[in-house]
Formats: sequence, C-alpha cells, structure tokens
Amino acid sequence: MVGRHQVTVFTVLLQVGLLFLLSARGSGRPLEKCTGGKSCEPPRPPVVLIPGDLGNQLEAKLDKPSVVHYICYKKTDFFTLWLNLELLVPVAIDCWIDNMRLIYNSTTHTTSSPPGVEIRVPGFGKTYSLEYLDPSKHSLGMYFFAIVQALVDWGYTRDDDVRGAPYDWRKAPNENKDYFLALQQMIEEMAEKAGGPVVLIAHSMGNMYTLYFLNQQPQAWKDKYIKAFICLGPPWAGVAKTLRVIISGDNNRIPVISPLTIRTQQRTAVSTSWLLPYAHSWPKDQVLVQTPTTNYSVLDYKRLYSDMDFKDGWLMRQDTEPLVADLTPPGVAVHCLYGTGIDTFETFHYSDKFPDVEPSVTYGDGDGTVNLQSAIQCRRWIGQQRQPVTLKELPGTEHVNMLLNETTVAYIKTVLFSP
Ligand SMILES: *[C@@H]1O[C@H](CO)[C@@H](O)[C@H](O)[C@H]1NC(C)=O
Ligand SMILES: *[C@@H]1O[C@H](CO)[C@@H](O)[C@H](O)[C@H]1NC(C)=O
Ligand SMILES: *[C@@H]1O[C@H](CO)[C@@H](O)[C@H](O)[C@H]1NC(C)=O
Repeated sequence: MVGRHQVTVFTVLLQVGLLFLLSARGSGRPLEKCTGGKSCEPPRPPVVLIPGDLGNQLEAKLDKPSVVHYICYKKTDFFTLWLNLELLVPVAIDCWIDNMRLIYNSTTHTTSSPPGVEIRVPGFGKTYSLEYLDPSKHSLGMYFFAIVQALVDWGYTRDDDVRGAPYDWRKAPNENKDYFLALQQMIEEMAEKAGGPVVLIAHSMGNMYTLYFLNQQPQAWKDKYIKAFICLGPPWAGVAKTLRVIISGDNNRIPVISPLTIRTQQRTAVSTSWLLPYAHSWPKDQVLVQTPTTNYSVLDYKRLYSDMDFKDGWLMRQDTEPLVADLTPPGVAVHCLYGTGIDTFETFHYSDKFPDVEPSVTYGDGDGTVNLQSAIQCRRWIGQQRQPVTLKELPGTEHVNMLLNETTVAYIKTVLFSP
C-alpha cells in the first residue's frame, strides 16, 4: 500500500485520479471450452484500461529552431516529457512548458506542437505507460499499478489480456481520430483471442473518451465486443476545477511553480476547455466564477474567455462541447463508481486583479476533483438503454486514491468474474 502522503502529492500533481462472489463455473457460455471430466475455468474477459487527463506518459523529441532559455535542450532523441519530475522545477519548467504547449490554429480549429517539437504516446497496447506515469516508477507517479497488479494476481497477463490505451490527453477526441481506430482494433483482437467480450475500465476524463468512442460504434459491435464499462470518477458534466486552471493556472500546490507560469501551458490543452462544467447539469443561476464586477455562470463562457483575454479558448470550447454534451447512453452495461465527501472546488472568487491572481474558493461535494453532480449523471441512462446501469458511491474516497482502494478493486473483480 502506498503511503497516504505520497498519494496526496501525486493527487495534487494530477490536477485537473476483496470479495469473490462468483466463480462463474459452468455458466454455459458458448465460448467456454471444456472437455469431459475436466472442470471449466471461468473465462476471464480481457480488460482495456483508458486513463484520464495527465494519466499516461508522453515523450518528446526536439529539433528546435530556438529555445526560451539557454539551459533548454534544442536537439534530443525521444525523452520522457510526462511525468518527469526533474523538469518541473524552476527554470527547467520554462523549457518544459515550451515543449508541452500546443499552438491553436483558429482557421483549421486544430492544434499542433511548436516548431521542432515532436510528441508521441508510448506504450499503446501495453500497461506500463499508465501503471506509473514516471518511467523510473517513482511512487509519486503510481497510477493504474494497483489495479493491474490485482488483475495479474487473478491470472491476467500484462500486455496480453490486460492492456492499456494511452493517448494524447492534451487534446479532445476531435483531434484523436487515429486513437479510436487503434482502440477499436485492439478490442476486436483481444475479444477474438479470448473468445469473449472485453471489459473497459476508465478513469476520470478517460470516461468521456470512452463514452465518445462507444457512441460512435454500432449497437451490434458493442453487443459483440463489450461486456461492461467500469467508470471510475467520471466527470460526465465537466469539473468546476478546470475554470481555475484556465483563468489563473493551477500549480496543484507545488509551491515552486507559479500558477501563472504553468497557466501558459494549461490554457493550450484543449481538453481542459472540453471539461468545463456543462449546462445540462449545472444550475444556470449558479455562480461559478465571481469578480468584483461580474458573476459568471455556465452560460457565460464566451464573456469569461473574452474577459480573461483568451479568445481562442472560446473556440476550443465550441469545437469540443458537442462531442458528448448530449450524454447519449453508451449502450453497454455500465458500472459508475464515484467518491463523495471530499471538499471539491465549486466556486472561485477573484479580486480586481482577475485573471492574474489566485482566487479564494468555495467547496462542494465530490471526490476532491470531480463534483458530485457531474459524476452521478450516469444515472440518467437508467431506463434509457436496455443494458444495466449501476451506481456505486465510495464515501470518503478521493479521485486518484480510488484506483488504489480495496473496495474499487473488489468491485472490479465482481464485474470481471460474474457471468
Ligand atoms: C492555420 O492553418 C492554415 C491552413 O492550413 C494555414 O494557412 C495558416 O497559415 C495557419 N495559421 C497559422 C497561424 O499557423
Ligand atoms: C454576484 O452574485 C452574488 C451572489 O452569489 C451577489 O451577492 C453579488 O451581488 C453578485 N455580483 C454581481 C456583480 O452581480
Ligand atoms: C476505500 O473506499 C471505502 C468505501 O468508499 C472507504 O470507506 C475507505 O476509506 C477507502 N479507503 C481508502 C484507503 O481510501
């Protein structure tokens, strides 16, 4: 078990993640292979893991025409850009920001890396890039490790019947088309090899990605290939915390990094604007951001982006808002697990120095990152789809700690080994 302190440090870096009920013996599933006299092993459904924002490694290769500081590298082979704690310290962070940021083209509505920066996502189809965010396996960056290790203890094999689907989480699904194709192919291969459908386990923003993916698939495909979708800490209606990230930056309480410095990079990540609270679930009269002169609700984003002098952000929001805004049911069995009882950012109060100042904050209920009213939106699918929708509250469980929690792990086991 990871120490509470370490998990907390990791959690703050991640702004923005036993009971064995049934052996399923002799469940008579057509794809089970039993020979006379021998007992049937329960079929293990293959598992695909879909991480959240900041939830897998990214690598960069540089051949830059210029750098922002003489200590920055200009030309390199591929190296780990996320998570690399050595780069997140004063001065070095300026180099990091200049490599990590995206440049938005308001004509094409697409983003690209700065000149001479190539970013790639390592480890698609494997688990390492989301078990630990830091390749040195620093415990600060432990992410899906506990769940993968539990699966291995139950008989799974890493990179074979449990595999990861990492992606460039700076972008929203509209700019990750190849990813969804690769995900579809991987699911089909795994299902065919195992002789049965796959279980998807997503965390945080990975749930929004998975919902988008499932909404694109025909029902017959889902019936054939997906056994269940386990949603951990899903932000179906966005998260209030992202408002602070784009307005004034969020150093996640790492004191050596100025929020306004890291804001430069944070604003360019389109997925942050995608995760702003959605009008379908937030009360339209609820003040989310307050300044001495203006109150902003979920209906005031255009003005908000304009007032913080980040007009491209409004375009990013418009590009991405429709992707899953209607919360079309996924059309597969859903298990929605969410933490409650942890103070979660709800409203930000700015002085007249808005947006270049730290806000004071009012808290509401949630898991410390995802607001409760966002996580529970999966309940609207009950009765909207023929497949079951199950909600499970995890009182006192924090957004990322959820991935280490024995209750979560036991729940996953129940889903995997039920007929
Ligand atoms: C945006 O993309 C268009 C079309 O590819 C291109 O002509 C234009 O130069 C780009 N703008 C910037 C600022 O790079
Ligand atoms: C903003 O809303 C608060 C109540 O939430 C109210 O007290 C305040 O007067 C409002 N400010 C403006 C500028 O409308
Ligand atoms: C795990 O979750 C359960 C149920 O939500 C909770 O009571 C417990 O405190 C959590 N444990 C940890 C270590 O977070």
